[in-house]
Amino acid sequence: MARRPIIAGNWKMNNNKIEAKELIDGILYGISSLDAEKMPEVIIAPTYTALWQAYDLIKNEPKIALSAQNVNPNPSGAYTGEVSLDMLADFKVKFVIIGHSERRQMFGETDEFINQKALAILNKGLIPIICCGETLEQREQGVTDAHLRTQITKAFEGISASDAKKSVIAYEPIWAIGTGKSCDAAEANRTIGEIRKVIKELYNEEVSDNIRILYGGSVKPSTIVEQMAQPEIDGGLIGGASLKADSFVDLIKGAM
Ligand code: PGA
Repeated sequence: MARRPIIAGNWKMNNNKIEAKELIDGILYGISSLDAEKMPEVIIAPTYTALWQAYDLIKNEPKIALSAQNVNPNPSGAYTGEVSLDMLADFKVKFVIIGHSERRQMFGETDEFINQKALAILNKGLIPIICCGETLEQREQGVTDAHLRTQITKAFEGISASDAKKSVIAYEPIWAIGTGKSCDAAEANRTIGEIRKVIKELYNEEVSDNIRILYGGSVKPSTIVEQMAQPEIDGGLIGGASLKADSFVDLIKGAM
């Protein structure tokens, strides 16, 4: 089963206008000599304030796609501080990250709200990158797989098989995010295999064979090759190492 790998950079709350331009220019330069046919699908997720500029800089570059870091599922209205899917579509945003543990933990986002976002994103023809992951405590208690099953089952409620097949999941153990301590590649592979089994139970083998499941959590150029060699891991969702053009380009090369 050939699933096209993904390398996605989640900038989080980083990069002002000048920094965003420098980073994108550096990435464009770094990938200019790479063979598009062999490249993973490359995604960058800037902040909302950098989206316009990012769109403008990459609009003629088919090697990079844009993602948003969040969205509000409502079409418009009195939601101070929020951004709608219509607004993202203006900038040809193709993906939206949802369910990131930082949004769950710091901003109180529930499985139900994440499901509403997933449905709205797919309805609009965009693709959700649905994050899931366990805390260190859950891992130590041996409830990782059960926890992920719940998160995935709730996130996919009401989503059709054809929409599920297009969606992307990112398995991000919370204890590995931003800590420099990546999950052991074989264990990440096992866990992602368990997530794929849940998808198969919810839908069928065609969906579970096609859906792309990424690993996230302290992915670095020094870890990516081993991670990509795992049969269940279809790419990376990368925070820290996506903020420097050199390391992001090395991650792209590591996935080729
Ligand atoms: P990290 O972040 O690569 O800095 O660990 C990953 C993420 O939170 O998506």
